[in-house]
Amino acid sequence: MRPHVVAGNWKMNTTRDAARKLTQAIVAGAPKDPRVLTILCPPFVYLRDVAEIVVGSPVALGAQNCHAQPKGAFTGEISAAMLVDVGCTHVILGHSERRHGLGESDGAINDKVHAALAVGLNVILCVGETKEERKDNRMERVFSRHIAAGLAGLKAADLARLVIAYEPVWAIGTGDVATPEQAQEAHAFIRSFIGTSFGFVASESLPILYGGSVTAATAAGLFSRPDIDGGLIGGASLKADEFLAIAKAAVTA
Ligand code: 13P
Repeated sequence: MRPHVVAGNWKMNTTRDAARKLTQAIVAGAPKDPRVLTILCPPFVYLRDVAEIVVGSPVALGAQNCHAQPKGAFTGEISAAMLVDVGCTHVILGHSERRHGLGESDGAINDKVHAALAVGLNVILCVGETKEERKDNRMERVFSRHIAAGLAGLKAADLARLVIAYEPVWAIGTGDVATPEQAQEAHAFIRSFIGTSFGFVASESLPILYGGSVTAATAAGLFSRPDIDGGLIGGASLKADEFLAIAKAAVTA
């Protein structure tokens, strides 16, 4: 059985006080069930505050990005080792807001994946097509490229510390959630592509999350599909009740 994962990507939201209150509410209500891992990914500057609150709870801490180099003259950047140092166990890499908004290439993302794994972090690698790419039926080519390039140089054993998040760009922050059928189809392709590249065992134990306008109302339908192992949640992760309802849906799915 693959674990289910529900991760909240807070993006560039909250204040320090709001981050602490949101964390306290989520820790109080998070499922204490080994079948589901709940992860919070606040902005860098609030990681320590969130770390202090989640310690000893079933909630894990993740960051939203890291730099590929371990240290040095990289003004404004944060290394993977620094994330471990402040209590992170996970890092989101390859989010479309960084790929498309900041021009992050597959090669740069691959360097970050290696840097994160080298210091013991678990990686949540985001992949997904734009509206245009879906219209042209290029989804499978996009997934194959994001995965083959993003995971280049990894061994099957490294996948024990990998989670993939399928996040169609057209669904992010739009309210236009993928249907469970659309998401399942994408997840099944991603899992089979991973199987071809890394073997059956690695692909069967890999959690693949769906992200893009997930709400408490849509979570259960998505998570009930065989290849959808939880969600990467943006907007709805900023409301404790909504996020906890999504995490609960992952327990029963
Ligand atoms: P929304 O849930 O706000 O659509 O964001 C999804 C996302 O980008 C999570 O990383």
